[in-house]
Amino acid sequence: MDMLLTEIDHVAIAVNDLEAAIAYYRDTYGCDVEHREVVEKDGVEEALLRVADSYIQLLTPSREDSTVAKFLANKGEGLHHIGYRVDSCAEALESVKGHGHRVLDEVPRPGSRGTTVAFVHPKTAFGTLIELVQENPA
Ligand code: CO
Repeated sequence: MDMLLTEIDHVAIAVNDLEAAIAYYRDTYGCDVEHREVVEKDGVEEALLRVADSYIQLLTPSREDSTVAKFLANKGEGLHHIGYRVDSCAEALESVKGHGHRVLDEVPRPGSRGTTVAFVHPKTAFGTLIELVQENPA
C-alpha cells in the first residue's frame, strides 16, 4: 500500500507551566517559538517550536475541564501524543477505521495553524495517542 505518513509533524508534551517549558527549550537548546495558539474547543494553549521540518508542541490546559488537565492530573507532565503528517487526513482516517482500529474523531476537523486533523484512539494504537495532521495552503 502507499505510505500515508509523510513526516513527523509534531511531538506533543503536556506541561503545567507553559512559560517555564518555553524558557527551558529556549535557554537550553536555543529553540524559538514559531507559533502560539489557544484552541478553545480543545481547552488547550500550545506553543510550537520548530525542529527541522517538525515541531515540538508544548501543551497546557486553558481551562480546568480540558482533556489535557485530566491527563496532567492522572499522569503528570510528559509525552501526550505524536502528530504524523499526512497528505490527506480523510484518507488516513479511513485507513485506520477500515482496518477496524478505534478513532477519537470520526471525521477530520480543524486543528491549530490552519491544519486539518483527526485523533486515533491509543487503545488500538499500541498505547500512543496519534494525531493525523494535514497541512493546508495558507
Ligand atoms: Co497535536
